Amino acid sequence: MCPAFSFFSPEVQQDPYSRYAVARAEEPISFCEDLGMWVVTRHADVVAILRDTDRFSSRVTTTNVKEPPPEVMAVMRKGFPRSGSIVQLDPPEHTAVRRKMNAAFTAERISALEGTVVALADALVDAFVADGRAELMTRFCGPLPVAVIAGILGVSQADASKFGQWADDAARLFMGGQLPTDEWVRAAESVVAMQHHLAGLITERASAPAADLLTTILQAATDSGGRLDMIKAVTYATTFVFAGHKTTTDLLGNAVRLLLLHPDRLAALVRDPSLAAAAVEETLRRDCPVPGTTRVARVEVKLGDVTIPQDARVFLALGSANHDERVIADPLRFDPERADVGEHLAFGRGVHFCLGAALARLQGRVGLSVLTSRLPGLRLAGDPPLKFRQVVMFRGLVSLEVCWDAPA
Ligand code: HEM
Repeated sequence: MCPAFSFFSPEVQQDPYSRYAVARAEEPISFCEDLGMWVVTRHADVVAILRDTDRFSSRVTTTNVKEPPPEVMAVMRKGFPRSGSIVQLDPPEHTAVRRKMNAAFTAERISALEGTVVALADALVDAFVADGRAELMTRFCGPLPVAVIAGILGVSQADASKFGQWADDAARLFMGGQLPTDEWVRAAESVVAMQHHLAGLITERASAPAADLLTTILQAATDSGGRLDMIKAVTYATTFVFAGHKTTTDLLGNAVRLLLLHPDRLAALVRDPSLAAAAVEETLRRDCPVPGTTRVARVEVKLGDVTIPQDARVFLALGSANHDERVIADPLRFDPERADVGEHLAFGRGVHFCLGAALARLQGRVGLSVLTSRLPGLRLAGDPPLKFRQVVMFRGLVSLEVCWDAPA
């Protein structure tokens, strides 16, 4: 049993950290009925499991905590089955796919994108800077990562806005457990449309390869005999649209929120924009956008006093590990200058370490620099506390209304 918290309760969604602290102290690994998973809350245990691919498989890694209802399944059958997204593969299959995908995310490729990310961020701010007020989740934090991932995939600018809606719907679909069925069905229809669109683009790349991520995906899903597995290719492409979007949106929103709640930190950043990277890193630790990931036990595993049965699902609470007092001092404090920030697990650890980490960090850093340099006197337009969405697998704001001293 899991005495310390219920994942779906509104209080826990707004503030999981006090409950996690109790769990870490009293029952660091326990079975949680409402998730149907074993929840692991201490840093050392989470790292050990992330590294233990022999005993823990990624094949269940999913953001959906509940099975979709039949209406949703009927829609999904018109699309491509989600089979073996990279994050759900185990070595050695994972190793081969990851090696190919790494090519699209080298340090040189990511740093070469800086100018593009700055231009996209500036263009978004241009659209509202004169208003003196904006809801940043929809005007900035969401659109920036969508435009960036669309560009990396090689999607035309004309298609990029469609991807915004699709990416939102993909996020809603994979969070399905908390959606009413009719909304879940609509999100599924949208994702099926995206899958067919991506399949068309991948087919185009087969005859006309380009220097883009869709072409890398095409190569990763083609076997040594030259046969393309379209189901795999579409799964990989969908994973990028999804993984590259909501996570980074929430990173930006969470970072702006923390800075606005800590005006001294915000003022320091305005004075010295080079502090943006540290503010991003501390946001990843303090309020990580992906608070957990899952594994399945391949065999019965004994961890301390607890025995996890074979085939049991395990929820690795990254958000809790990032607040574990055993490795992080005074974990609730937002302190971009802390020395122990490098311990955070916001991007996971081991073979599945986030492929897009450098890209997310770049967007976080550029996003904060552009917002703080172009919106003088940036402040909350409403009263805190700001509300987090009611979802288990992502930690991000419902909305973020801000205002600033607009030019006269
Ligand atoms: C994997 C978090 C941004 C692509 C992961 C994992 C985490 C994570 C925790 C490991 C999952 C596991 O071990 O089960 C985040 C966060 C982000 C972010 C917090 C933003 C702040 C991105 C971006 C992209 C991306 C921008 C791509 C454009 C991926 C992929 C994997 C992954 C492809 C799977 C890697 C593999 O299985 O080898 N991410 N991510 N992520 N992420 Fe990210």
